[in-house]
Amino acid sequence: MDISENYAKQLQEMHDRHKIGFGVEPPLKLIETIQNNSVTSILDYGCGEGNMLNKIQQLFPNIELYGYDPGVERFSTIPSKTDLVYSVDVLEHFEPEFIDDGIKKILNIADIQYHNIACHPAKKLLPDGRNCHLIVQPPDWWLAMIKSTIDDKWKITYTNVYNTFKKKRQGTHFEIIMVKK
Ligand SMILES: C[S@@+](CC[C@H](N)C(=O)[O-])C[C@H]1O[C@@H](n2cnc3c(N)ncnc32)[C@H](O)[C@@H]1O
Repeated sequence: MDISENYAKQLQEMHDRHKIGFGVEPPLKLIETIQNNSVTSILDYGCGEGNMLNKIQQLFPNIELYGYDPGVERFSTIPSKTDLVYSVDVLEHFEPEFIDDGIKKILNIADIQYHNIACHPAKKLLPDGRNCHLIVQPPDWWLAMIKSTIDDKWKITYTNVYNTFKKKRQGTHFEIIMVKK
């Protein structure tokens, strides 16, 4: 289990009210990862409204693209296998008690993984009043947590920490790429 029924309903409510999930521009490192590997299929995990997925499809028209998001009916099914899985601004939205199982589930889908994780509180709140980022932890915490979840078949090939500034608010992001040998 990687999401509770109550939380999935809250996400659906947020999406129905168009309050979440509109990212468009794929991170440069994700584009490079797609370009540098013989990728024929991709899953956008936590794809929101699918805007980034559409942009990637435009950039790579021959790649088969799938999106999954528990808050969006049209993206409610997950393919069992793809060449690459990515998530952008998603893992910090997991309920803390389900993050281990969630990461294990994601790792089973593809041998190439790109994840971009926000390490700061969100501006938005869930309908129940909690901050939308249910996990607010620094990059080192995420790295240690991911390392404790993967086995020695996985190699972490890239990590990066960068800051963003939106309306004078600073945010920290952690990027990680993993490849299964
Ligand atoms: C900030 S939005 C990012 C959406 C999209 N990746 C983007 O960059 O625009 C976070 C997304 O994570 C989804 N999400 C939250 N918890 C999730 C979970 N446990 N599994 C998968 N997706 C989840 C939400 O429904 C929401 O669409």
